[in-house]
Amino acid sequence: MKRRRIVTGLDIGTTKICALIAELSANRQLEIIGIGIAPSHGLRKGIVVDIDKTSHAIKSAIQKAEMMAGIKVDSAFVGIAGSHIKSINSHGVVAVTGEEKEIKKSDVDRVLDAAKIIPLSTEEEIIHVLAREYIVDGCQGIKDPLGMSGVRLEVETHIVKGSSTSIQNLVKSVLRAGLNVDDIVLEPLASSFAVLSEDEKELGVALVDIGGGTTDLIVFHEGSIAFTSVLPVGGNHVSNDIAVGLRTPVSEAEKNKILYGSALAEKIDPKEKIEVLAASGRDRKKIHRKYLCQVIEPRMHEVFSLVKKELAEAGAKDLTPAGLVLTGGASLLDDATELASGVVDLPVRIGEPSYVSGLSDVVENPVYIKRGDKVPKAIFSTAVGLIEYGANFGDNAQVENKSKDIVNNFFNRIKEWFSEFF
Ligand SMILES: Nc1ncnc2c1ncn2[C@@H]1O[C@H](COP(=O)(O)OP(=O)(O)OP(=O)(O)O)[C@@H](O)[C@H]1O
Ligand SMILES: [Mg+2]
Repeated sequence: MKRRRIVTGLDIGTTKICALIAELSANRQLEIIGIGIAPSHGLRKGIVVDIDKTSHAIKSAIQKAEMMAGIKVDSAFVGIAGSHIKSINSHGVVAVTGEEKEIKKSDVDRVLDAAKIIPLSTEEEIIHVLAREYIVDGCQGIKDPLGMSGVRLEVETHIVKGSSTSIQNLVKSVLRAGLNVDDIVLEPLASSFAVLSEDEKELGVALVDIGGGTTDLIVFHEGSIAFTSVLPVGGNHVSNDIAVGLRTPVSEAEKNKILYGSALAEKIDPKEKIEVLAASGRDRKKIHRKYLCQVIEPRMHEVFSLVKKELAEAGAKDLTPAGLVLTGGASLLDDATELASGVVDLPVRIGEPSYVSGLSDVVENPVYIKRGDKVPKAIFSTAVGLIEYGANFGDNAQVENKSKDIVNNFFNRIKEWFSEFF
């Protein structure tokens, strides 16, 4: 009997937790068979600050996805973000061993280990060691050196590291929800699998995932990762600005942003008025729609200015002729692409995963529904990317799992302890 391979992606966002269950066919095609979304309350700027609330929301999202898929899952590929994430490029070099001087898996593992020797504080750990290119006897640009002949093997890597505490709190939240962690994956890396084309990655492109609490950035050049970064600002900051500026509850601010907001106030008719709830939560008042957009525009401008600054500091702006691809919930704001293009002076498009066709229809999440639209696919980019990552690298992911092992072992010990007792 053929074994079904099931891959689960768990996007633990600041606004929502999204679980996707997919089935991988023999020809490695992914079919999404379950989807669950739950509002998230235990995170701030992409970091778990309340394990209980986070694990409850994870449980709820997973249960919804399991119900739809008609199966139970026991582990998931989990996304990580937050401004504790730092990344650096590092170089490794080793001599090729063996009589025939043919590069083997053990040589590749050793050169990646050599590249991993980077300054790391006691509070940090490595999340990814991503090979950008291999160099065999001075010959550059090699993507897969296995089986090649040579005496000297070098690698250029992109290393992603993060705070051990933040990683452990994320893993604990998943374990408490009754799931094991297959792997921890940097969210923008996951999203890139879902929305970027191979041509864009080859030419040079920056993916900008604007969520609720963070804006995640990843730059590809010549098919490899050149830069990653997580900025602590997102769509929730826009909603808070509106709540303060319009003196209205945050939930009302959020609704008005989605229904009437624009990133370019100049496009709005100065005479058009909208009705918003007063801060008391009882009376309604009329305001100019243009005023709402005048509150939104500076914050969105700030987001894209920060992206521009990050790209400039990393020396990455000239590496991205394919421009910016925006994804994530906050990228759906009207005129966001136009504003972004003006600020960064590059072409900009919206990126969304193609896998979730049909699934938007079944998800009930009115928060994201604008003027009767379906749930937009851009909010699934990270979750779809996580299952793509799991399907492609699940068997031999190049990821350090110190925290995962520590916490898994800790919980297994507690489980054993309990089972001995009862
Ligand atoms: N149609 C829309 N127009 C404008 N903003 C929107 C729209 N739909 C969603 N948003 C905003 O997108 C944000 C949530 O996006 P998303 O679901 O990608 O975040 P998240 O993954 O939970 O958070 P993060 O990745 O930052 O941890 C919220 O601020 C929400 O207001
Ligand atoms: Mg997100």
